[in-house]
Amino acid sequence: MYRFKPELRIPGPVPVPSEVSLQMARPVINHRGAVFKERFPAVLSRLQLIFGTKNPVYMITGSGTAGMETAVANLVSPGTPVLCLVGGFFGKRWAELCTAYKAQVHVLEFPWDRGVDPDQVAEFLQQHPEIELIFVVYNESSTAVLNDVQAVAKARGDHQALLVVDAVSALGGAPCEMDAWGLDVVVSAAQKCLMMPPGAAFIALSERARAYLEKCDSSRYYFDLRKYEQFLAKGETPFTPNIHIVFALEETLKMLETEGLDNVYARHALMRDMTRAGIRALGLELLVSDRDASPTLTAVKHPQADEFRQRIRKKYGVEFAGGQGTHAGKVFRIGHMGYATPLDVLTALAVLEVELQKFGQATEAAERVLAAR
Ligand SMILES: Cc1ncc(COP(=O)(O)O)c(C=O)c1O
Repeated sequence: MYRFKPELRIPGPVPVPSEVSLQMARPVINHRGAVFKERFPAVLSRLQLIFGTKNPVYMITGSGTAGMETAVANLVSPGTPVLCLVGGFFGKRWAELCTAYKAQVHVLEFPWDRGVDPDQVAEFLQQHPEIELIFVVYNESSTAVLNDVQAVAKARGDHQALLVVDAVSALGGAPCEMDAWGLDVVVSAAQKCLMMPPGAAFIALSERARAYLEKCDSSRYYFDLRKYEQFLAKGETPFTPNIHIVFALEETLKMLETEGLDNVYARHALMRDMTRAGIRALGLELLVSDRDASPTLTAVKHPQADEFRQRIRKKYGVEFAGGQGTHAGKVFRIGHMGYATPLDVLTALAVLEVELQKFGQATEAAERVLAAR
């Protein structure tokens, strides 16, 4: 086990490029000073391209869940009828947050190995014209399913409900066209495809969602988006922000812009396809069908998933993630998002082959990898 070089193959936090890490070591500056006021709005506006919106993007200092709670705190009043689309752990989190804010919560459950079904959503909405908000997860990290949020938006048709999307493990790894697809709120976070350390969430709102927010009467303070809006007009945040994430974001955006977003998405799709082909060749079973497969992580069935990945962690220092919820102990998850290349996929597959070989399941390719050690 090599402690000096963490080999993270988990669905976030992801490895951070050294250019980005260096930004985290810069001197602290005054978050009410001229330099910050100039740089902060400029960098946030560059995120708009990745969100696919012409509307402002706000930064909340906190983890991805802080971004999710910001959405709920600003939209859900006690008794608001909401629909949560639940096909995994993070869909469930939307329902828990809405319950915490005293919404009237309706849940449409989907199997924890496939995408939400837009037809069922359309049918439910037809029977429930009173629903005001729909909550969905774009990339369900607990199952490695990429939900077709564009199809969900289409299924909504001219129903009044606003569509709120958790894009925490999708944004920067899968295309997001918030305005064109009709998504009303999109939430993301620093430590996934945006290749930064944890510590910031990002949120954007459609004009409709911005107007709706005015009638929300939930108790909120730190997460009150109206404060973030007022302060962003001055180039600031209402509370002391994670200043270093702002520096890091400048660097990460430079990298993504240089690569080109289409190339970034193509790289993620390639890593998905390589991982899936490799897992199949190893004789292991994928949790999710090709149709619903995530470009940012892959879930693999294994009867002793936890022991298997602990052994790999101990022997080779490579970290895979465990299963969540109903998949705990039966699935392991391979992250291939953000600062990741096809070579990272090859090394992940190699380590799986070598370990499987020890248990008499080696393929010819594994024999070659072993011979090279
Ligand atoms: C899809 C999704 N939503 C929300 C979260 C929560 O983010 P955080 O752990 O940063 O609060 C995660 C984290 O893994 C996630 O993958």
